[in-house]
Amino acid sequence: MSQATTTVHQSVMMTEVMECFDYLSEIENPVFLDCTLGGAGHSEALLKKYPDLFVLAIDQDPDALERAKVRLTDYSDRLILARCNFRDLDGLISELFKQKAIPYRSNLKLFDGIIADLGISSDQLADPDRGFSFLQNSPLDMRMDPSSEQGAASLLNESSKSELQSIFRTGGVGAVSGVLAAKVVESRPINSTSEFASICESIGELNTRPGRSAATVPFQAVRIAVNDELGAARELIDSVHQFLSPGASVCVISFHSLEDKIVAKGMRSWERGEQVPRRIPQQGGVTGIGKLLTKKALSPREEEIGVNPRARSSMMRIFRRNEKEVGE
Ligand SMILES: C[S@@+](CC[C@H](N)C(=O)[O-])C[C@H]1O[C@@H](n2cnc3c(N)ncnc32)[C@H](O)[C@@H]1O
Repeated sequence: MSQATTTVHQSVMMTEVMECFDYLSEIENPVFLDCTLGGAGHSEALLKKYPDLFVLAIDQDPDALERAKVRLTDYSDRLILARCNFRDLDGLISELFKQKAIPYRSNLKLFDGIIADLGISSDQLADPDRGFSFLQNSPLDMRMDPSSEQGAASLLNESSKSELQSIFRTGGVGAVSGVLAAKVVESRPINSTSEFASICESIGELNTRPGRSAATVPFQAVRIAVNDELGAARELIDSVHQFLSPGASVCVISFHSLEDKIVAKGMRSWERGEQVPRRIPQQGGVTGIGKLLTKKALSPREEEIGVNPRARSSMMRIFRRNEKEVGE
């Protein structure tokens, strides 16, 4: 595990995040849910701006929580940090409400704002012990939750050729997914980031986009599979809207189109009134619980990309729950 106590992660789309939640100033004692604490930049900015805000912030990575504890020490009386996968939010939130650990709310499991900034942080990428990056040679790992069962090396060494092909295809490798899968099988065992990167580089067709390493997309594909990122995003989107207070927004930032598609589809279905939990009454029985405010995903401004190139691929979607529903 990493010993670093400070974050190197630069939060993306900070201006847009703060704009999205500016209605918090009108709420007395607002309660906020950060589903992806990471370097804690978004949570810190919100805690700083709203002196009566209470935040529940989760991450599946214990290192992120350790760093955040240091960064957010001034706010410890308005904060709960919890190690949790956001696919298990329901259990955690029910437990915290049962314990009355979240102030200001007696029994309603509702939040006045929710953020999910998906993917990995620069802290995870920069830590050689975590084996996420082809820029440094280290054991292939890529687990965001170090207690989860299968890391990248065992995934590459134990999956069948067709499983690997499907992992690469789903992760965006495209037409050469089968060629890469065959090369991986032929080159086993593969234990380090450099070994896997050289395999990617040996496949000419992967070297298509100027300035991008042939290993970029395959590494991302393996990371997505190791952490079941698409499955977790689907489960988050299936459940997170039930935690929105009337008038509250949820802001989701994705970094690739596979995730953004899941988010957009889910938010459209909340808007249409599908998947709405029974305890949220629907207006007229036909319409949904709120509005997708970003039909087209928001992108970062050019100035931001200039100072933080990692922000380039961010896509932000915002959904706002109706102020009042029939029956309330
Ligand atoms: C992009 S970073 C978040 C950065 C943060 N918003 C900030 O301002 O510093 C994403 C974080 O989400 C965490 N994460 C990703 N998938 C998760 C999941 N399924 N459950 C919980 N945490 C997750 C990662 O471990 C990582 O720390």
